[in-house]
Amino acid sequence: MKITKDQLLVNGKRNDGRSPDDLRSFKVTAGVLKKAKGSAMVEWGKNKVLVGIYGPGEVFPKHLTNYTKALVNVRYSMAPFCGAEEHGRSGPNRRAIEIGKVAKHVFENIILTRDFPRTQIDIYIEILQSDGGTRVAGITAASVALADAGIPCKDLVQGVSAGKVNDTVLVDLDKWEDNLGEGDCPVVVSLRSNEILLFQLDEVWTKQQVLQGFEKIFNAAKVLRQVQEESLKENYKEG
Ligand code: CDP
Repeated sequence: MKITKDQLLVNGKRNDGRSPDDLRSFKVTAGVLKKAKGSAMVEWGKNKVLVGIYGPGEVFPKHLTNYTKALVNVRYSMAPFCGAEEHGRSGPNRRAIEIGKVAKHVFENIILTRDFPRTQIDIYIEILQSDGGTRVAGITAASVALADAGIPCKDLVQGVSAGKVNDTVLVDLDKWEDNLGEGDCPVVVSLRSNEILLFQLDEVWTKQQVLQGFEKIFNAAKVLRQVQEESLKENYKEG
């Protein structure tokens, strides 16, 4: 069903019935791929994201070797059947390359890369079904997958987006809110250090709106973190 801009927020309710502070349903399963070093599947609203982790392993090509720390590579890729609208050609497009790059920066700051010099760690984020917020869903899933791989990190991290419709700040945008709303602000946080690891923003926001967005994002991150932790404990139980 196609949504129009004037249906995004009606009497304080969003197109899927949520209020501005509500998250979509969020589920994580750790250890779903048996051949990867670590993996996780996130189902967040209609998003379905699978992450596989390989490494730390040999650096390829060799000349990229860093003798003081591990290289972190992130590939973000949308499956051709994921429901995204523009799949004119195969292979990564500019958007996918950008998302891989910003996710790489997040994980370079979270993984204890100096413990693994001369190696590379590969993070593959595959979007199986997309419905807005896939970059934050991918990063949230990848953090669980890294923990599942046993790769030491400073924290489990969470990504959440905020946005605006009729100047009301909303948390966790779906595709319609992302595409038709007045601004999209994906953020990745570390609750342990209270740090912001990724902050992207489009359109024009007042300082007050950005601060409101951060508050909602940090509150949402606390909820996501509990689910992430549970998924890891569950996976340990299964052995
Ligand atoms: O997914 P995310 O919000 O991180 O990234 P975006 O570039 O803001 O895209 C928002 C949403 O638009 C995606 O989740 C997809 O559902 C949709 N999209 C699409 O339909 N076709 C594309 N080529 C890119 C995005």
